Amino acid sequence: MSDSDSARTDDDVRRPQGFDGIVARLRAAGCVFAEDEATLILEAAGDDHGTRERLVSARVAGTPLEHALGWAEFSGLRVTVGPGVFVPRRRTELLVRSARELARPGAVVLDLCCGSGAVAAALAAGGGKEAEPLEVWASDIDPNAVRSARANLGDERVLEGDLYGALPDTLRGRIDLIVVNAPYVPTEAIATMPPEARLYEAPIALDGGDDGLDVQRRVIAEASEWLAAGGRLLIETSELQAPETTALFEAAGFEAETLRDDEIDATVVSGVLR
Ligand SMILES: C[S@@+](CC[C@H](N)C(=O)[O-])C[C@H]1O[C@@H](n2cnc3c(N)ncnc32)[C@H](O)[C@@H]1O
Repeated sequence: MSDSDSARTDDDVRRPQGFDGIVARLRAAGCVFAEDEATLILEAAGDDHGTRERLVSARVAGTPLEHALGWAEFSGLRVTVGPGVFVPRRRTELLVRSARELARPGAVVLDLCCGSGAVAAALAAGGGKEAEPLEVWASDIDPNAVRSARANLGDERVLEGDLYGALPDTLRGRIDLIVVNAPYVPTEAIATMPPEARLYEAPIALDGGDDGLDVQRRVIAEASEWLAAGGRLLIETSELQAPETTALFEAAGFEAETLRDDEIDATVVSGVLR
């Protein structure tokens, strides 16, 4: 332990040696944003040397920063993300933006396959329509994801189960907007994903079956039972898979359009029932 690492003053974060030492360890472990990560680790650990060491060691061993810290930044929020739970991606902010534009004040919104509930939390937090908040529900099949989502959204409207099977009957035909980032990675492509995803996120959060569209297929086929008249279904997909996702919407009676944000490499298919 270096002298600066053992020092525990309020100014610790600003000590070049402590900060620099952590940056060097993170950089040696291949962390591209070592300075940013060191700042967050020091902020989280404060003067607690044990916590500081635990976080740095976890990161050096390959644990995603978000899992080490227990939260991820998403859409301007700090969202709780427990071990194994999918870390919300920046690209999913297109789903949030698109939903905000479409949701009337007071609309009933469902975040299906919610993971940490990041999308639901961002929508519940507002976006200019706080006068009449949205009625936001969220559900997931993975109990760990549900635990994180409840930490972010409260217990009442976070449900556990297989897709629509988690929902109370009272929501049937009442949902104005269903927003979905379901797993869409083809099974074979999972082996090519970065270790942070492959090793630290639950397979059920990533694996979309042979063509990546197994879960989307079920979501789209059953959506009409749950949507209110004029309701919309928004699904994140990849640019490559967007034509197939769109074809699934059309086969299920939706009029669909593709929304794209090149800057964050995000694609969403948005559909309204014909
Ligand atoms: C790609 S992650 C996305 C999580 C969250 N929507 C986000 O963007 O951060 C997919 C999520 O779908 C959930 N999931 C997979 N199959 C499901 C099913 N049959 N029913 C409900 N949730 C499911 C997984 O547990 C995982 O949390």
